[in-house]
Amino acid sequence: MAEKTDVSEAQIASHWKEEDYYPPSAKFIAQANMTDEGIYERFALENVPDCFKEYADLLDWYKYWDEILDTSDAPCYKWFKGGLINASYNCVDRHLAKNRNKTAIHFVPELEEEKVDHVTYQELWVRVNEFAALLQDFCGLKAGDRVTLHMPMSAELPITMLALCRLGVIHSQVFGGFSGKSCADRIVDSGSEVLITMDAYYRGGKLLDHKIKADEACEEAAKQGQTVKKVLVWQRYAGKHSAETPMVEGRDFAVNELLKNYYGKRVEPVKMPAEAPLFLMYTSGTTGKPKGCQHGTGGYLAYVTGTSKYVQDIHPEDVYWCMADIGWITGHSYIVYGPLALGASSVIYEGIPNYPDAGRCWRIAQDLGVNIFHTAPTAIRALRKIGPDEPAKYDYEFKHMTTVGEPIEPEVWKWYYNVVGKGKAAIVDTWWQTETGGFLCSTLPGLRAMKPGSAGPGMPGIHPIVLDDEGKEVPDGQGKAGNICIQNPWPGMFQTIWGDRDRFVRQYFERYCKDPNSKDWRDWPYLTGDAAIIAEDGYVRILGRIDDVINVSGHRLGTKELESAALVVEEIAEAAVVPVKHDIKGVEPDMYVALKPGYEASDAIADKVQKALVEEIGPIAKARKVWIVPDMPKTRSGKIMRRILAAISNGTDVGDTMTLANPEVVEAIKKMA
Ligand code: PRX
Repeated sequence: MAEKTDVSEAQIASHWKEEDYYPPSAKFIAQANMTDEGIYERFALENVPDCFKEYADLLDWYKYWDEILDTSDAPCYKWFKGGLINASYNCVDRHLAKNRNKTAIHFVPELEEEKVDHVTYQELWVRVNEFAALLQDFCGLKAGDRVTLHMPMSAELPITMLALCRLGVIHSQVFGGFSGKSCADRIVDSGSEVLITMDAYYRGGKLLDHKIKADEACEEAAKQGQTVKKVLVWQRYAGKHSAETPMVEGRDFAVNELLKNYYGKRVEPVKMPAEAPLFLMYTSGTTGKPKGCQHGTGGYLAYVTGTSKYVQDIHPEDVYWCMADIGWITGHSYIVYGPLALGASSVIYEGIPNYPDAGRCWRIAQDLGVNIFHTAPTAIRALRKIGPDEPAKYDYEFKHMTTVGEPIEPEVWKWYYNVVGKGKAAIVDTWWQTETGGFLCSTLPGLRAMKPGSAGPGMPGIHPIVLDDEGKEVPDGQGKAGNICIQNPWPGMFQTIWGDRDRFVRQYFERYCKDPNSKDWRDWPYLTGDAAIIAEDGYVRILGRIDDVINVSGHRLGTKELESAALVVEEIAEAAVVPVKHDIKGVEPDMYVALKPGYEASDAIADKVQKALVEEIGPIAKARKVWIVPDMPKTRSGKIMRRILAAISNGTDVGDTMTLANPEVVEAIKKMA
């Protein structure tokens, strides 16, 4: 665990005051999916795990489960044991009877002059079946295999995911903005022999060559001992290769070409055990290596369906737009699986929110009749900065809006509420994680008032508790922060870290486990890694991470990942990353490096470090500034004092440095600021 100073007093003190409540409107409540106060009692701690039957019953099962929760391998739980289910069937086939001709996916290309693709449930079913047939027949894929996806936002991405899970194949989608090298690490860790990608996509008005990343990924994976046998390449423009990077003979195949052999083919969904893994989602943690969070089929799908219904308030007739990227957990749970399981229309937008201008998002909302909108504070801050008055110019009406990924400042929240929501939409601030599959804390929008700056109480069936370092409970309402844990298991939680059960237990449970041999879930509180305060009313305020993770624009980056990327540069001896406050992104990384003996600091070295960050991880990892320092401030035991570097970067007081082994270095670095 990192130095606790990472959630410094300063960070907590700079937090906003408690705000007043905003009740949801009568109009919202009148149509809300959940207005039954009894839900909190039904999902009380003493009713865990049985209460989650209510979520499982939102799904269609081939065989109903026998046991709700098997804890025999705690804390690796099996939900809905004995049940047989298929996620593709639940997101596609089951809607055909009533909603065959309803739009499942609105794909909005970034270029406004291009046609929006409205994929009906019928068409989705056809395309998923045909692609599943190809995957089965041409690639020989079967249940339990892993396939890595490195796809941009496109209708083909959910089609690919749903085709894979139709066969019981585990998908691992890597965020399209990540580098080929990041993709390779995930290919290797998951043991994928097939990579599915797209030739190109638009971002900021430019058609980017994405295929090149597949070549880099395959080359790097091979170096690490994993051969990618087939690369399937979707075409941004069907029938045409749109990347400069050519196809590799015998390894790369254009999906649109191959699909011609599978037109009209149908594949029965495979009846998967509820606990079979559905997908892996890699995320940053306390060590350099990203970890594959393994999500199960029945539990995950039940949880995201239930929370999409009650928190997102999705009805089948709604047009729902979540602006996240499907390459993150938010996109998996709340663009693809949750909304489609409920038969909603889900919008997928290819590009950036401000292309070609600050009104784009609101035009999309107006043109498609979006009535539920979901995004992150970083996007809200950016939209507010570039076009504070834009929303009023467009004729759309949101009934509901979501914020996710980082704390939202009350001032920004109020702009979201008054200007984007036009004072009419209910807002939910949803706190959760890649690991948790779905929401942990949020208000139920028809039942609880909103409070700017607070996520809200634990979800029904999620029982948060704040513990101090000794494991004692910090009571609600004292304004004291601690480590927020969840006392109980829930169906959406990840099952393990792919291939590393020890790390799973160590990182998330060991700290507060009451008995490592226990099979009783009550002995295994889940450590989220966030610091939080619970107010008297039970509303939770998240303060930030307690481990070595920084949250840039709502994206989790491991400081160790960033540091090891910098260490790839030959001249660098040591690297340390700290978060710096930023108006739009929340925070951004500052990179401190010390050089090996014999090298002189230069702009060229700083550029090399930036390049390494982009190549190893992706453009989101770029540092605000690279500081080439004479030495790192260190404790006498040799530990780098990141807290001091963070204070210098943020222009705050560095505090007492006299206990350091080299206090003079601090002065030297301060002069560089
Ligand atoms: O620190 C919390 C922050 O984002 C972390 C999880 O990041 P990730 O796994 O990438 O998932 C992001 C989308 C669920 C958390 O540990 N976080 C997430 N949502 C919020 C938040 N911080 C404050 N308020 C939120 N609503």
